[in-house]
Amino acid sequence: MSISPPLAMSRRGVLTAGAVTAVSVSTPGLAVTDSVPASTTTAVTPVSFEVNGKIQRLSLDPRTTLLDALREHLHLTGTKKGCDHGQCGACTVLVDGERINSCLTLAVMHDGDKITTIEGLGSPDKLHPMQAAFVKHDGYQCGYCTPGQICSAVAVLSEIKRGIPSHVSASLTDRPQATNMEMRERMSGNICRCGAYSNIAEAMTDVAGEKA
Ligand code: FES
Ligand code: FES
Repeated sequence: MSISPPLAMSRRGVLTAGAVTAVSVSTPGLAVTDSVPASTTTAVTPVSFEVNGKIQRLSLDPRTTLLDALREHLHLTGTKKGCDHGQCGACTVLVDGERINSCLTLAVMHDGDKITTIEGLGSPDKLHPMQAAFVKHDGYQCGYCTPGQICSAVAVLSEIKRGIPSHVSASLTDRPQATNMEMRERMSGNICRCGAYSNIAEAMTDVAGEKA
């Protein structure tokens, strides 16, 4: 469809018009002239926490998530960013032994905390029992969700051991048992696009020393 002459404008014309608009709104007298990008005006905040047994002192934009602090500032890229919205569990780490979604919390809120990432659970030479069980039971395919799954799985067994109820155990028993159903319920916040759920539950059951 052809464009009628008054509306026709070349690409250069559009760009020029846009540039002119940008200049016009930044002329003195308009409030926006003094605006400066937020990133250049935000003060950094010091934060100190222990990550995988090592004290880390950082100066961060206070809006930095724990996930970004770990990945971008400490280069611990084992922890994965999936959704960045608390919906997939790929970013799960342990803070003082409890599992959290590191994309949903600000790094500066964890001053003094002890954080464990997948890198701190075990090493290739000395796997954590949960890491070894995931290998043994093929608890992963592409592996993207796996660091979060393993951190979550470690915390789940700790929760069960401490008698912390879930929706399943609260309705069925006084004290949670490390059953396959219990594992699946507690791991429901960790999404696996490859569908390795059965194998993950088997790995967890193995570590727990229980029959599925
Ligand atoms: Fe944090 Fe998905 S990246 S829950
Ligand atoms: Fe691929 Fe879980 S192993 S997303």
